[in-house]
Amino acid sequence: MVKSKVAVLASGDGSNFEALVNATREGSLHADIVGLLTNRPGCGALARAERLKIPSAAIARAQFAHLEDWNLAIRDQLQKWQAEWIVLAGFTGLIGASILAAFPDKVVNSHPSLLPKFGGKGMYGNKVHAAVLEAKEAETGITVHLLNERFDEGPIVAQTTVIIEAGDTAESLAERVKTRERMFYPSVLQDLLTGRIKTR
Ligand code: GRF
Repeated sequence: MVKSKVAVLASGDGSNFEALVNATREGSLHADIVGLLTNRPGCGALARAERLKIPSAAIARAQFAHLEDWNLAIRDQLQKWQAEWIVLAGFTGLIGASILAAFPDKVVNSHPSLLPKFGGKGMYGNKVHAAVLEAKEAETGITVHLLNERFDEGPIVAQTTVIIEAGDTAESLAERVKTRERMFYPSVLQDLLTGRIKTR
């Protein structure tokens, strides 16, 4: 079977990006990671891409006067890589209509909570986990969803729960969620690529 071409977008440490690359190299994820694109030139994900010998591109929002031009530059790079699936792994930028139109139903995100709870603008990183603890939830989790133009509101593809333990801090919870996410995201992606999970 021909491998799907996947581009990963990340802005942070990139541990999920590396987990995706490892899954392709171990064979559990039947895909070629054709590139890592970031909006944050100094981020850990970029360093990981270099170490893993994955082509990379840094396209910062500040390089462009208009949001639309920045989106078009991202879209052009993704098309240059001939990406078929766009996988967000801790990407902080807003994906606009021009990118979504170029890859319909093929832009995927993983969010570290049980959406629709604890999603939306400003809900990223440890802020999500702090809000979960503040709300005294019994459990949290991970949501993989397709992207639309509103943060964290696209159709949900898969979810898994993560237990909250007594004494958890935002940091300890983040670590537990990420550990699970590094297994869960590649396996959900494999189901999407093979059509086991249908998106329409
Ligand atoms: C992950 O928890 C992801 O769900 C969220 O940001 C985190 C990225 O972590 N959107 P890393 O950069 O992959 O280590």
